[in-house]
Amino acid sequence: MKNSSIGRNDTCWCGSGKKYKKCHMKDDKQSQSKRRSSRSGIIIKTDEEVEGIRKSSQLTKSILDILEERITAGITTEDINTWVHQYTLEHGAYPAPLNYRGFPKSVCTSLNNVICHGIPDHTVVKDGDILNVDVTCILDGYYGDSNRMFLIGEVSDDARRLCEISKECMDLGIKQVKPFNTIGDIGHVIQQHAEKHGYSVVRDFCGHGVGLEFHEDPQVPHYGSPKTGPMLRPNMVFTIEPMINAGLPDSRILEDKWTAVTIDGSLSAQWEHTLRVTQTGFEILTA
Ligand code: MF3
Ligand code: CO
Ligand code: CO
Repeated sequence: MKNSSIGRNDTCWCGSGKKYKKCHMKDDKQSQSKRRSSRSGIIIKTDEEVEGIRKSSQLTKSILDILEERITAGITTEDINTWVHQYTLEHGAYPAPLNYRGFPKSVCTSLNNVICHGIPDHTVVKDGDILNVDVTCILDGYYGDSNRMFLIGEVSDDARRLCEISKECMDLGIKQVKPFNTIGDIGHVIQQHAEKHGYSVVRDFCGHGVGLEFHEDPQVPHYGSPKTGPMLRPNMVFTIEPMINAGLPDSRILEDKWTAVTIDGSLSAQWEHTLRVTQTGFEILTA
């Protein structure tokens, strides 16, 4: 199995300067064969799998782009669900959230103090709201997962700032993605940036490996210490999706068993991309 086009005699992706065959080649082959015998552990994707995940991720991106044009004050979160559901099916894909562990809808819509996993319903989106929409497509068996914030009409300075800083948190996390860095390096820069601005990082939900399944190993916490956790390798595919609260980091789940809200009622914002580790850095598959 070829790992991301690196040849035996090429310089290893890890930065050691050694030839690949003398360095991580054996290791990579082991992670390849391990995932074939069991479904546990981090899956290093083949180039063919990456291509499938890229296509699915691009459909996810195009759905979010369409929502940018349609989401305005006066629509309901159920309207968003209908659009996402229909557009996904029209493009030969399936909405991953629908019936996932009993989730009842095709998309997550998380308003204001909702951290994540909000269920579309007849709630009308209104001027001043901040809304996260989280879309995941399954196309030809491959998953692409991404979410964005939508600012409705005139939003308060506080809400706008939270949305901006949380986007910066994701972008800074993404910049840490390269071979030899660790999962902890990603969480560390996100936490530093959020806390520097007086915000808190949600601990109860993480980013995750993605691609062949909705949620795979590793977990990608949005807090942590440098040089800790699993090392990043070419063709690892995972999400970075920091949830940043204006107040306390703690969450509470509503009666519907899904909707996660801030315990203090403070605003929460989130951004998500699906990424691939390349030989030298990252590729944002959902961009
Ligand atoms: N898309 C979410 C994530 O980023 C997961 C949603 S699970 C669902 O991991 F069941 F609520 F859809
Ligand atoms: Co995700
Ligand atoms: Co998501």
